[in-house]
Amino acid sequence: MKIFLDTADIEEIRTAARWGILDGVTTNPTLYAKVEGASYEDVLREVCSITPGPVSAEVVADEVEGMLEEGRAFAKLAPNIVVKVPMSESGLEAMSRFAEEGIKTNCTLVFSTNQGFLAAKAGASLISPFVGRLDDINQDGMIVIRELAEIFALHDIESEILAASIRNPLHVTQAALAGAHIATMPFKVLQQMVHHPLTDKGIVQFKADWEKARQAAGAGAGASS
Ligand code: E4P
Repeated sequence: MKIFLDTADIEEIRTAARWGILDGVTTNPTLYAKVEGASYEDVLREVCSITPGPVSAEVVADEVEGMLEEGRAFAKLAPNIVVKVPMSESGLEAMSRFAEEGIKTNCTLVFSTNQGFLAAKAGASLISPFVGRLDDINQDGMIVIRELAEIFALHDIESEILAASIRNPLHVTQAALAGAHIATMPFKVLQQMVHHPLTDKGIVQFKADWEKARQAAGAGAGASS
């Protein structure tokens, strides 16, 4: 399963890229609103220069022509831009038009298996079920991932399932087991995946023992000379 960062924060993206585990980035208007002093286009250009993987840029228009206009402009920014389009009647039409034009799309705000299935039929490359927001309303978000994975395998559908709205490391494991091709997550969740209390404790212990052994070896060498 590929790992995407769900952020517009350049430093977070640079850090994950340095770790060698970054496969792509998703952004949305809410994440962009947290970044100060740069246009959305500038942020996207910079993100695309850091990762060669897909970078999702979200349209905000709610009618087809507006979505097409925004998406075409995003697609010109870099070859790895994927246009993020919300699930709706207009969204389906826009995604099928983008597919005809060879522009890749990520269907966002997917909350049911049928929505995901329709988005794939319309030609979206990525389908984004929002796991965390479903969990928030007492529905198991992983069911959508699991059902879509089964349907896509049964019917040879090429779209990739992108588990979105990931809230914790357990969601990442569950998404991988449920058959998601990609999980997109906040940087904080990625950091939580790196750490384990026993790992962190072990690193401190090994360092302390190493220092103790070196001091003992130094004292031994001093005594024998
Ligand atoms: C992904 O593409 C979405 O923008 C994102 O995962 C939404 O997450 P949230 O529910 O934490 O806002």
